[in-house]
Amino acid sequence: MATYDLVVIGTGPGGYVCAVRASQLGMKVAVVEKNATLGGTCLNVGCMPSKALLHASEMFEEAGHSFAKMGVSVSAPKLDLPTMMNFKQQGIDGNVKGVEFLMKKNKVDVLKGTGKILGTGKVEVSADGKSQVIETRNIVIATGSDIARLKGIEIDEKRIVSSTGALSLDKVPGKLLIVGAGVIGLELGSVWKRLGAEVVVVEFLDRILPGMDGEIAKQFQRILEKQGFAFKLGAKVTAVDSSGKTLKATIEPAAGGAAETLEADVVLVCIGRVPYTDGLGLKEAGVALDPRGRVQIDPHFATSLKSVYAIGDVVAGPMLAHKAEDEGVAVAEIIAGQAGHVNYDVIPGVVYTTPEVSSVGKTEDELKQAGVAYTVGKFPFTANGRSKVNQTTDGFVKILADAKTDRVLGVHIIGIEAGEMIHEACVLMEFGGSAEDLARTCHAHPTRSEAVKEAALAVGKRAIHM
Ligand code: FAD
Ligand code: NAI
Repeated sequence: MATYDLVVIGTGPGGYVCAVRASQLGMKVAVVEKNATLGGTCLNVGCMPSKALLHASEMFEEAGHSFAKMGVSVSAPKLDLPTMMNFKQQGIDGNVKGVEFLMKKNKVDVLKGTGKILGTGKVEVSADGKSQVIETRNIVIATGSDIARLKGIEIDEKRIVSSTGALSLDKVPGKLLIVGAGVIGLELGSVWKRLGAEVVVVEFLDRILPGMDGEIAKQFQRILEKQGFAFKLGAKVTAVDSSGKTLKATIEPAAGGAAETLEADVVLVCIGRVPYTDGLGLKEAGVALDPRGRVQIDPHFATSLKSVYAIGDVVAGPMLAHKAEDEGVAVAEIIAGQAGHVNYDVIPGVVYTTPEVSSVGKTEDELKQAGVAYTVGKFPFTANGRSKVNQTTDGFVKILADAKTDRVLGVHIIGIEAGEMIHEACVLMEFGGSAEDLARTCHAHPTRSEAVKEAALAVGKRAIHM
């Protein structure tokens, strides 16, 4: 007799959510975690600590630069970095404890140690030189991802850092060189820029934020440049000399050509993440990987080994916490014999900078490439009353709808609170709604969300306030 119905390896947002849902469905569940704390990348060194620092640094920036114009007169704010880091840590601790509570509440056993799959129904859990074999009917691999490294550039997490080191610097770098203009580079670059660093971002491609709508990315780049970001696009860092007091980075044009040297106090390498499968024993157990090293799954999250499933960053798809969570729920339901499902066409993406960038569905570039006939409705925040009175008018809402059916295919927003506003578009798209549906939905006044309604009206060329 197996001890458990389900053992989940990894307690990130994919793993712990899967465990809770499986327990709700009546399964006896255990989670295996090799870290000292639960919650995975997201809670410990990802989403949550980065958002705590983004919030605190934004308050610092606002106090220094925005209060006075509203008649709030304060003396220049002073940075107390240790207290800011403590604020971040309190947030991490609170959330990690929350996951521990959820495990207890749902009677999920927490097995601390490294999980290794010995075959169908068998997981070895090792910690402190001891190991035990757990018998289970089903296994879910939710081991997440790790930082991608640059060949020849060694990350010491002090001066040459990944996102993990960049979340815990002990002083504000005079010059921060960021490799990669993706989500991490722009979010953590914003944090240290606001706290006083000079930020230069080196990006391999000729644009920032690949994957996001091109028009949005262009305007976002201009806004970041106004904030003081410097970008070197179409360039790559090929070496970092750390022998001297300041780092010397060699930068080459992506297309080849003469190299230049840039000095920096800290170099942040954030060129993507890779699936994490170390120590899981997948090859020996017969769990197949795809050519990019991700655990290969079928549409029902099943791996090549019977009763072994995989979800989250370790499988294909966007490396996002909410995608991992939804897959966790879906796989638990499938194991319980239900019809668990994730709609990959409606997974929002948010960049938590100021302003925020959010997106769901197809970009204009994708629609063009696929030859889909579409109509565009746009509405700028400069024409939105609430944004005007708050003097936060950067950005716009862009809605892409099918030219024939008016069905909304993609929504892209750049602006304050864009990360909250995107969800009405998600619900609409989940129900297959049209721009007309959105345009006829009453929106409270005065809200920034009225810009979403106006963009939907603009699809039919009848925006009121523009
Ligand atoms: P993870 O969260 O990586 O968890 C995997 C867990 O498995 C870890 O705890 C690990 O210790 C454990 N594990 C691995 N191997 C074993 C083993 N053999 N035995 C036992 N345990 C094991 N996403 C967003 O949606 N929004 C954001 O704002 C956001 N911000 C981010 C900021 C940063 C700086 C980073 C790095 C990432 C961010 N992400 C964000 C991405 C998000 O963190 C991941 O998509 C998410 O954590 C993936 O969840 P997961 O459950 O698949 O894996
Ligand atoms: P990313 O994939 O977002 O961006 C990496 C960038 O580095 C790309 O623009 C890429 O073109 C560039 N690049 C790659 N190799 C390079 C090189 N040699 N030189 C210069 N540039 C190079 O990856 P990032 O920012 O590391 O984030 C990893 C993952 O974490 C993301 O995929 C995202 O899913 C997740 N994340 C999500 C957040 C959110 O949802 N707000 C926040 C932070 C991370």
